[in-house]
Order: sequence, then C-alpha cells, then structure tokens
Amino acid sequence: MSKDVIQNVCVVGAGTMGRQIALNAAINGYNTALTDTMPEILAAVAKWASEYLAGRVAKGKLTQGLADTAMSRFKIIDRLEEAVKDADLIIEAIVEKLDIKRSLFEQLDRLALPHAILATNSSSFVSSRIADATKRPDQVANLHYFNPALVMEVVEVVQGAHTSEKTAEKLVEFVESLNKTPIWLKKEIDSFVVNRLLGAIYKEAMFLVENGYASPREVDIGSEKGLGHPMGPFRLMDLVGLDVAYLIRKERFATTGLEEHRPPKILEEKYMKGEYGKKTGKGWYDYN
Ligand code: 3HC
Repeated sequence: MSKDVIQNVCVVGAGTMGRQIALNAAINGYNTALTDTMPEILAAVAKWASEYLAGRVAKGKLTQGLADTAMSRFKIIDRLEEAVKDADLIIEAIVEKLDIKRSLFEQLDRLALPHAILATNSSSFVSSRIADATKRPDQVANLHYFNPALVMEVVEVVQGAHTSEKTAEKLVEFVESLNKTPIWLKKEIDSFVVNRLLGAIYKEAMFLVENGYASPREVDIGSEKGLGHPMGPFRLMDLVGLDVAYLIRKERFATTGLEEHRPPKILEEKYMKGEYGKKTGKGWYDYN
C-alpha cells in the first residue's frame, strides 16, 4: 500500500476526546492504536468502547459484525513507541499545555515513520507553535474535533505556513472518510473558527453570572430556548470540561497579556476546586 494512503492511525491521549477520536477512526475502517501515559485511564477504555459499540448495536445503528470488526481494529497500547510504530497519521489529544505538547511532538518525530503526519487536536494552539519541535514541520497541522467526537459532524483542519498542501489535503480527505465535514483553514488563527465563536458566547455567559444578572441555569435556558442551541454554554462547559475551558483562557492571557483574555474569576475558582464538570461529578451543575 502506498505511503500516501492513511491506513493506520495512532491517537495519543485516551481522555474524553482521544478515546472517541480513536474509536471513530476504528469504526470507519482504520487500524487504530490508542495510547496514554496513565495506565488507569487506558484500563477503562476497553470496557467503555465495548459498551459504546454494544449500545450502537442495540439501537440498530451498527451491525454486530461491524461492531466486532471495529473492536478488532482498535488496539489499546501502553508503550508510545509500540503504538506509533506503524502509524501513517498520529493525532495528539493530550492536556492543553504547550510545553507538554512540544515535548511529545519531539518524541513522536523520533519514533514515527518518516512519512507519518503529526496532527494536534489542540483546542486553541496553532500548530506552528509545536511544529518546530520536529524535523518535519511540513507534516504537522491541526486536526480539531468537537466533543462528543463520535457524534459531532465537523472537524477543523488548520494549515499553517509550515504545513504542506499535501498534508492538509490528506487530512481533509481523512475527515471526509469519517463521514464528517472538514472546515479547512488555510491560514492560522488561534482557537480557529468554532472555538472563537464559542469563546465569545462563554465570555458573555460568565460575565452575566459573575455580575449577578442571571444564574447558569437561566443563561442556558436563554441559549437553548431563545437561540435554539442544543446546549447552553454552562451545560456545554460541563460536557467539554471546565479544565479545558480554563486552560485555554489561561494560555491565551499568558500569550496576549490582554485584560480581556484574563480567565473569569468564577471559572478560575471552579478550576482550583477541581470542579471540572461531568467528569468530576460537579461543575456548573451537580451530577452526583
Ligand atoms: N458519546 C457518544 N455518543 C453520544 C454522546 C457521547 N458523549 N452523547 C450523545 N451521543 C449520541 C447519542 O447516542 C445519540 O445518538 P443516535 O442519535 O445515533 O442514537 C445522539 O448523540 C444524540 O444524543 P441524545 O439524543 O442523547 O441527545 P441530544 O440530541 O441532546 O444530543 C449532543 C446530544 C450531541 C451532545 C447535543 O446536545 C449537542 O450537539 N450538544 C452541543 C455539543 C457541542 O457544542 N460540542 C462542541 C463543544 S466545543 C468543543 O468540543 C471544542 C473543544 O476544543 C473544547
């Protein structure tokens, strides 16, 4: 098989996004390896994946045969070098911290096949902030999924000045092969399209709550029933993770130094208390 065809995918980071990105690739025909440095996270993935697939079969959305094939293509591997060794495409979905991402990319560059594309699912960092940690910047780009990645139909491909046309095209084709719609940004801007729109909504939502104009529930009702959004900003932050929402803002503030980018106090307090949303049982709402 030609090196130009993506067959083997590796996802690094088995949290909420990484595991869904990986299983989605396996369901759509790719041999997929999923890896993480935290054994307790990896240990939970096989059960999660088989329960998800069983649910799809029970709902009549997937045949038992396709679910079995997807599971057989989905490999959970604890050693990074083993997980990446055959990959044509590596998708990083680790914590939203630039120095950690850069050091991972430096490692991936050493371990991956020379033709492999190294993509980041970062929510906000453009890949030019990471690509120079590798010797293959032309094969580095953003590939940005939305939560829940098994469901959401859009994926952003962000092509930096360092990213070759061939790499961007291959990523766009990959997104299409998942039956998702690509948004191809041919010029970098942090947070890309969707998170910039969402960031404006979050900012206003937290302003209203922080200043006592409305409660999270009331803002969510306004968004859902007044604007027809599927989830209001507070319910959505609880789904995606307040840690993600906070770290994006913290990094942006550190980069620009602009007061308007400082994370709101109410978000910082939640982050400090470890109230990250659904994943910790409490965020803006209580799930216990
Ligand atoms: N994992 C897998 N599948 C899920 C799921 C999950 N966590 N949550 C819902 N689903 C599936 C359901 O099984 C169902 O599938 P089916 O129709 O094929 O049977 C389908 O999604 C619809 O689910 P429900 O009927 O239970 O509920 P809703 O119709 O309310 O849909 C939702 C749920 C898709 C999450 C919808 O509320 C929604 O679109 N919310 C907004 C999500 C959003 O805005 N995401 C973007 C966040 S920003 C982001 O991710 C960027 C990052 O950088 C931070």
